[in-house]
Amino acid sequence: MSDEGLLEHDSLRVELGERGYDILVGEGVLARAGRLMAPALPGRRVFVVTDDTVAPLHLEALECALADAGLQYEALVLSSGEQTKSFAQLEKLVEALLGRRIERRDALVALGGGVIGDLVGFAAAVVLRGVDYIQVPTTLLAQVDSSVGGKTGINSRHGKNLVGAFHQPRQVLADTGVLDTLAKRELRAGYAEVAKYGLIDRPDFFAWLETHGADVIDGRPETRRKAVLTSCAAKADIVARDERESTGARALLNLGHTFAHALEAECGYDGTLLHGEAVAIGMCLAADLSVELGYAALEDAGRVRNHLAAVGLPTGLSAVPGRIWSVPRLLDHMSRDKKVQDGRITFVLMQGIGGAFLSRDVDPRAVETILTDALAA
Ligand code: NAD
Ligand code: GLY
Repeated sequence: MSDEGLLEHDSLRVELGERGYDILVGEGVLARAGRLMAPALPGRRVFVVTDDTVAPLHLEALECALADAGLQYEALVLSSGEQTKSFAQLEKLVEALLGRRIERRDALVALGGGVIGDLVGFAAAVVLRGVDYIQVPTTLLAQVDSSVGGKTGINSRHGKNLVGAFHQPRQVLADTGVLDTLAKRELRAGYAEVAKYGLIDRPDFFAWLETHGADVIDGRPETRRKAVLTSCAAKADIVARDERESTGARALLNLGHTFAHALEAECGYDGTLLHGEAVAIGMCLAADLSVELGYAALEDAGRVRNHLAAVGLPTGLSAVPGRIWSVPRLLDHMSRDKKVQDGRITFVLMQGIGGAFLSRDVDPRAVETILTDALAA
């Protein structure tokens, strides 16, 4: 590929005033990462943090790009997997950075999926009371969701993502080419979040995905790039309106997640159900609930289910082999959701495709009905 080709990328801005930043999306961005990130860095030294699955695949390319831009760098490689988002790993990382005499003008670079992005963002928020960091997301989920918006953190024994900080990155560099090495199951799971943006407030995007979704999974470069870019634009728009999830706009990003978190908690985060797979089932259940409450047409719920199934995502409770679900246990998990307020569960419902809204007064009997129906399906 020519130098010109490698330089080609799309860019959009997360409009957050002095905390605003650019998201660059395109194939070959990694090979240019040093030059692309240099203007966004406070100094000339970065600490690259990645995991032991991503390191052998993509670290060398990033290191070459940093050297090419004359940046000093050191790499730290952590174990891959959700268990890395822990107090123990945070301590290890922060102590390693301090041991290498990190200074305030140094920056962290998170090269990896949402696990690395969340942990590194949180480490950046706390080390020396806050240093800059750059997200270089390498999973579809991280490119379209976790790398954008500044939610950082780790898990506690009381639940996922219960400890963290809002700390916006200085830049997001999403190289859609690195998705070629990602397992198809992980790609599909990330795709659930792509489809989510269409369902929230971009009906035209959802219609486009109904035609092109399979190409996004199969890796057609231009299609993948458009899907990532449009998803980032959708998330950037919501984050700019409600950075700290205080007005309600950002809570729309939880479409399907109240159900999904209950399914994941019930499975014990054992890998039988990836987060995006749980979100796919959760979005189908949210659509069913919207139909049950009279907000959406049966046809809308059909479109959601058909599309997710067409790209190979699970759409019902029977998709988890061997699992015996219990409606009371799922309801119990939902009542412990982070978004419960005064004992009321917040649901994201849909007034049709692209018409997501928040509701705090859903009749619990309607939720029980759709879960019971889902069990019987
Ligand atoms: P992950 O980071 O665990 O990555 C999934 C797997 O893919 C890992 O084994 C990883 O090593 C591997 N991998 C990553 N990039 C690869 C590549 N290019 N090629 C081959 N393998 C690769 O998981 P994820 O799905 O990216 O992220 C999940 C995490 O994101 C969860 O902890 C979740 O809580 C968090 N999250 C955060 C936000 C947020 O707003 N901060 C939003 C959504 C999810
Ligand atoms: N993934 C939800 C959020 O960023 O708010």
